[in-house]
Amino acid sequence: MSDGLFITLEGVEGAGKTTQAKQLAEWLSGLGLPVLATREPGAGLIGAQIRQVLLNPANTELAPMTEALLLAADRAQHVAETLRPALAAGKIIVCDRYADSFFAYQGYGRGLNMAELISLNEAAAGGLIPDITLLLELPPDEGLKRAAKRGASDRMEQEQLDFHRRLSDGYQKLAEAFPQRIRQINAAQEETLVQADMRKVLLPLLYERGLVRDVVR
Ligand code: TMP
Repeated sequence: MSDGLFITLEGVEGAGKTTQAKQLAEWLSGLGLPVLATREPGAGLIGAQIRQVLLNPANTELAPMTEALLLAADRAQHVAETLRPALAAGKIIVCDRYADSFFAYQGYGRGLNMAELISLNEAAAGGLIPDITLLLELPPDEGLKRAAKRGASDRMEQEQLDFHRRLSDGYQKLAEAFPQRIRQINAAQEETLVQADMRKVLLPLLYERGLVRDVVR
């Protein structure tokens, strides 16, 4: 058992995960905790190369199973190179996307066989499950509009709205299946309120693990 804590953020495109993850990491650091902010796909030198292939809009011929295998490869590398060592060192990990993205996007979105994805994920993650997952909820059409404002869209963002609706429904199913671990956050609210809700969800866990003692906001 490690002393670290593994927090993941999930959600549809444009839900604000990246901004919220950054603010969350800053808050945790401010509490004096050793934080590691990371993401999937694309952490580290090897992950960055895999991410390039996955998100390059020119790769229109990428087969769904190739996509899944690349994501599993990225996860295997991330777990071995970054996540396991960080947890062993007692770090608080804030990870922008992890295995729930795999089941939502490749399972519900692409329609790949869920049992095969579970095996692939198991091979890649070796049983590493987040302590808590914050699911930032936003209607997929709203998220895509927000994402479009950021500029050129990547290969996943360019998928049809139907794909994004399926994976969004998939996230709901995952949240129903794992209500203890996956906590739903209303991401349609103003940014500061989203952050406040995330902290409210995390605080009891931080207390429970003895990571914070005094009353903090
Ligand atoms: P993002 O970092 O901008 O969210 O982009 C990562 C993309 O990769 C996003 O479209 C979701 C997708 N993805 C999957 O399809 N499956 C996965 O397992 C992960 C981690 C990400």
